[in-house]
Amino acid sequence: MSTSPLENLSQEVTRLLATIESFDSLAALVDAEASIIGKRSALSSLQKSLGSLDPDARRDAGARLQEARRLVDDAFAKRREVLSANARSAQLEQDRIDLGDVVVASIRWPASTGHASLVASTQRELEDVFVSMGFTVSDGPEVESDWYNFEALNIPPAHPARGMWDTFYVELGEPETVVLRTHTSPTQIHLMENAVSSSTLPIHSVMPGRCFRRDTPDARHLATFHQIEGLVVDRGITFADLAGVIETFTRAYFGPDISSRLRPAYFPFTEPSAEFEITCTICRGEGCRTCSQTGWIELGGCGVLDPAVLSAVGIDGEVWSGFAFGFGIDRCAQMRHQIADMRALTENDVRFLEQFS
Ligand code: DAH
Repeated sequence: MSTSPLENLSQEVTRLLATIESFDSLAALVDAEASIIGKRSALSSLQKSLGSLDPDARRDAGARLQEARRLVDDAFAKRREVLSANARSAQLEQDRIDLGDVVVASIRWPASTGHASLVASTQRELEDVFVSMGFTVSDGPEVESDWYNFEALNIPPAHPARGMWDTFYVELGEPETVVLRTHTSPTQIHLMENAVSSSTLPIHSVMPGRCFRRDTPDARHLATFHQIEGLVVDRGITFADLAGVIETFTRAYFGPDISSRLRPAYFPFTEPSAEFEITCTICRGEGCRTCSQTGWIELGGCGVLDPAVLSAVGIDGEVWSGFAFGFGIDRCAQMRHQIADMRALTENDVRFLEQFS
């Protein structure tokens, strides 16, 4: 009688189980997969040899071989699980950051705690300059009715000057009656109304805040931006007072070698109106690309209060007169720090922000 092909099956299984246990790296185990449980394995060759047995013996041998395979397959799967868990924890260990080490090695002490954004600190410095000139600081709403943003400023519905401000309308109340303020000028109206109702004229105040326009951002414009508005209502105020305040402010904030000039312009709420320009801080007036070779940069608008505005809020224009101005806080930051592209102010790139701590 020929010897059964499965004569050494149990030794073979023992040997395979030992081999499986001996692997201590997942990669080596996976490399050996074909020779342990795959087509090239000893058990697969035994399987092929069963063809020579008679049917009863083959069935019997087949069942034993299947059991042997199950044992080896299970052992292989378990070992693979153990080794991959080990590999995972080794990787975790390698990636672990010892926060204690990081603090000691790379954080200067005292640790950085963040700081106000450039726009916020610019606003504060502008307020300081105006406070030192005798102005108070006031606040106004960012969402305004059409009356405050336009009508009381002598811009009635359908007035062509509305085209100067690309407006975001808020869907509350009647269509187009509620807007995101397009400038800080409506705060002037609130201030004058309050001063009339509480009999606290005169007014010398600046009003910083956020404004919104349906503009496409570019190197010199943002859709959400900041302005600071100025308002003086007093007795005997003239255009010369306005020019003096603008020039004093310009030198105080930008430095003694930067000056201002006023150029005739049109705003519905002031008469006469002017554009307020300062010496280009990039070329110091020589002429460059930023100032289109003019040596001057426009900062905002200003003028003597239009009598129509005074009467809209119930101020007697025979007794009181005044001036107003409004200009960009972001533009001031850009000019003061020579920031080529204003969009840097909103991108939150730490490498940019850190320069203004
Ligand atoms: N509100 C104007 C704007 O954003 C700027 C301005 C012009 C403000 C003249 C004023 C002013 O107070 O008198 O375009």
